[in-house]
Amino acid sequence: MAEPIIAQKAPYEVDVESGKEYWWCACGASKKQPFCDGSHKGTGMTPMQYMAAASQKVWFCGCKRTASKPTCDGTHKRI
Ligand code: FES
Ligand code: FES
Repeated sequence: MAEPIIAQKAPYEVDVESGKEYWWCACGASKKQPFCDGSHKGTGMTPMQYMAAASQKVWFCGCKRTASKPTCDGTHKRI
């Protein structure tokens, strides 16, 4: 499987809403980062579901290399 595209070497800060479902782009090709827009078709990669347990700020990984998907774990500083 190909490596995901690095959308940006920094997280995307998003205000999520409690109880709402989000689909994080794992492939890096989406034009609606950090979320999936269907561009992964043909890559063998699929988006990851994120259910917001609370209304709060979430930092979604933009480099697509985090070990704690879908949120940023600081890995982007080493790529
Ligand atoms: Fe990247 Fe869907 S566009 S996972
Ligand atoms: Fe990917 Fe921080 S943006 S680990």
